[in-house]
Amino acid sequence: MRRKGVKTFLIVAVIIFLGGAITLYLFGKPAKVNTDTHLNGVTEDIENALYYASFAANSHNTQSWKVELDIAKQQLTIFPDEERALDFVDPKHRELYISLGCYIESITFAFDAYGYDTTLEYAEPIGLNNEIATISYSRRENAEINNRQIETLKRRHTDKRSYNTDRINAEVIAQLLKDTDGIYCYETGTEEFEYLKNGTMEAISKQSAEAAYRTELNQWMRFSNKEAEQKKDGISAEMIGLNGIIKAFYYMTTNHKNAENDTFAAQGIDTAKKQTENCSVFFVITGNDTVIDWIEAGRKTQAFGYRCVENNLSIQPLSAMLEVVPYSEDIQSQLDLAKNVQMILRAGYVKDYGENAGVRRNLEDYITVINGN
Ligand SMILES: Cc1cc2nc3c(=O)[nH]c(=O)nc-3n(C[C@H](O)[C@H](O)[C@H](O)COP(=O)(O)O)c2cc1C
Repeated sequence: MRRKGVKTFLIVAVIIFLGGAITLYLFGKPAKVNTDTHLNGVTEDIENALYYASFAANSHNTQSWKVELDIAKQQLTIFPDEERALDFVDPKHRELYISLGCYIESITFAFDAYGYDTTLEYAEPIGLNNEIATISYSRRENAEINNRQIETLKRRHTDKRSYNTDRINAEVIAQLLKDTDGIYCYETGTEEFEYLKNGTMEAISKQSAEAAYRTELNQWMRFSNKEAEQKKDGISAEMIGLNGIIKAFYYMTTNHKNAENDTFAAQGIDTAKKQTENCSVFFVITGNDTVIDWIEAGRKTQAFGYRCVENNLSIQPLSAMLEVVPYSEDIQSQLDLAKNVQMILRAGYVKDYGENAGVRRNLEDYITVINGN
């Protein structure tokens, strides 16, 4: 009788254990976002270039761009997608244009990797309902695919995990800043680093208290593999540095209903504290406040991102100070800079560098092909 009881107990325990392990595996396994890169009448190398170009940094991974690809003219026209604007954190669309600048730079870099020269021309005037730029491309003679550059495109990503706090070698910083203009580096221990660290925490705490902020963020958070795989935009668990069991618990406990409550906001503040306390430097990218200057700041940000990849340095933009008053109004004078701050990036080393999560939309969702055969 007793032996039968022990046997039943063991069977139940094994079933519970296996059930738990399977559940954790299912919630924690990596998402498989299959971006469809097919475009009617477009050659495979251009499809690939456009796919990797979409790995550009962009706020909340909204991918707020639309493109017209004219095959006959060999030209891409870039438009903003105002339906993907972040009206609460970015009412002036500053970050939207920076994101479009990142995308433009990424297109240039990706086309170059596939053997195409590009020339960029800004539209006049630039507005939300207008095109912002055209990029003409032409294949170089005897062009070869630059696999190293394609690797850089794939590896560039925003790393939201904690970084090592060790100092970064002065030569590496000099190399990163070489021939750049308007990019500044503040190391741990400096007054400016403390200002950016504390200001970021204060600004994040302030915006997290706002219901409209929480609603907007919730719209772009992804809380299951299925959601990330279907929507192909927004911020998945992998993109906030969660994998395996931790990712499984995150997806099991968080959803769109509880993502606007105080507990989720407090977790966000706690994560930001770990991020700002676990990095080696802050970089700031400066520029004037016009639409073209914002796009240019985006191009600079993306190009700087590639340099960081080549130096195995992880980066994460932290925009709260630029989104919240008084920080957004005071930062330029507090840091004594000639131009306004457009991007704040924390940086540092991690053990396993990782790569882009590739949560990106199908090309046909935002690219219209014209003048094909
Ligand atoms: C203008 C701009 C602002 C951003 N602000 C933040 C931010 O405040 N916090 C953050 O964690 N990431 C920020 N990011 C990074 C985006 O979340 C990230 O680029 C996007 O999710 C795509 O992921 P990926 O960079 O790994 O490809 C920002 C990116 C851009 C271009």
